[in-house]
This record gives sequence, C-alpha cells and structure tokens, in this order.
Amino acid sequence: MKKPIVIGNWKMYVEKPDAVKAFVMKLKRRPQLLSKTDVVVAPPYTLLPALAQVLGTTKTIRTGAQTVSAFLEAKHTGEVSARMLKVFGIGFVIVGHSERRAAGEKDDMIREQIKRTHEAGMTAVLCIGEVERDPHGAHFGVIERQLLQALKDKTTGKLIVAYEPVWAIGKTAGSAEKPAEIQEMVIFIRKTLADILGREQGVKVPILYGGSVEGSNAKELLTDGGVGGFLVGHASADIDSFIEILTALA
Ligand code: PGA
Repeated sequence: MKKPIVIGNWKMYVEKPDAVKAFVMKLKRRPQLLSKTDVVVAPPYTLLPALAQVLGTTKTIRTGAQTVSAFLEAKHTGEVSARMLKVFGIGFVIVGHSERRAAGEKDDMIREQIKRTHEAGMTAVLCIGEVERDPHGAHFGVIERQLLQALKDKTTGKLIVAYEPVWAIGKTAGSAEKPAEIQEMVIFIRKTLADILGREQGVKVPILYGGSVEGSNAKELLTDGGVGGFLVGHASADIDSFIEILTALA
C-alpha cells in the first residue's frame, strides 16, 4: 500500500512566523507519524521563509504553495512566480482551489498556473469540486468539465487531483462527503483522467479528498473512500488537530 498523502492548506489561518516554528518543531518530534504519511505543508507566502528556515534539511515534511502566478514576465504587481517559489524549496502548488475560483480564477488561468508549476519542476495539486450536489448527477458533469479544461494541454508534469466538493468545505467532520460517494467520484475522476491523459499516465495520478477532514473521520474516508490521501484545511492549521489526522492514518 502506498503511503497516504496529507497536504495541509493553511489558507490564512496561520499568521505569524513564530506559529510556524512551533508547529514544525512539534511535528518533527513525531518521526513515526511522518514515516507513515507523505506530509506537505502549504502556508501563505509570507510564512515561506520561516518555514524553510525551521525545516532546514528535514526531508519528511515537504512544502507547498497555495497558488502561483499564471504569468511568466516580471511586470505583474503583487504576483509570485513559480521560479520565486522554487527559491524556498517548494515542491507542490495548489491550483484551482474553489476559494480562488470563487474570487474569479477561470479555467484558462488555472491551465497557465499548471504550466508554470510544471516548467519549474513542481507538482500541481489541481482542485476540482462542485458547488452543489445534484440529486440527478449533474455534478459529475461539473467535475468532468473542470478536468477537461484544466488538463486540455495533456500535461505530462507531476500532478495530484484533489476532489473538494465546495459544499463540504470548512465545516466539521460530520459534514464531510460520505465515503461511498467519494469512492464513486474517485472512480469517475480516474476514468476521466485516463480519457484525457491516457491510461498509463491517468492511473498514476493520486486522487485526494478535501472538505472537513478531521482526526475523527480521516481513517474511514481513506479506507472506504478509496482516496490516496487528503487536502486538509482548518484541521491542518492547528498542530494538535493535524497530529490527530496523522495518528488516525498511521
Ligand atoms: P477544510 O478545507 O478542511 O477546512 O474543509 C479544505 C480545503 O479547502 O482545502
């Protein structure tokens, strides 16, 4: 069995460098948990230097960014390029998160962000997810369209897909999607990936679930949901609740 991937998306929950240091120091003291999962921490940009510093040469905790600029040229005020992220040892970039889609990011921009991420040799963590669950199954069409649009260029770079139904994000464990429904969606995503990227590449892409993953539901979602791991929001920003998730999966 492959190790589950657990990506912590800190959003804006963590604000200060000191909090990053305390988080990582505590996590480093749990090598047995870190050996059982592939852990990635994705802080806001402002905390990347502190994270890089406290991690030092640690290999068991890897780092991600929450987004990346779609642009290549420097004349874009306020943007952070893929090359700039590389300076801080970033290996993973979250693209297409529903909160960024809601703020106006469109499919063509997401496609460019994937391109920039791959040009810099990083793994793109592509988020997809329907806003509403449709009892007649229209949400499968939403997922298919998001995948087709984002992967139109048939990328050969490293890719992870995070299925995050928007209606399940930011709540508590009881509001997460049910494992049987996740499993059904994972099968659908896998087939769609094989159709777009070809079977050989499609089967290799880890499919994660995100949306109210906590210590109390992580194990069941992993075993009965058929996912390769999780993209965790609120429960990843607090070290104790993050350790609860890792403990449940160990
Ligand atoms: P949540 O967020 O775990 O707080 O639901 C998940 C996400 O938005 O990636």
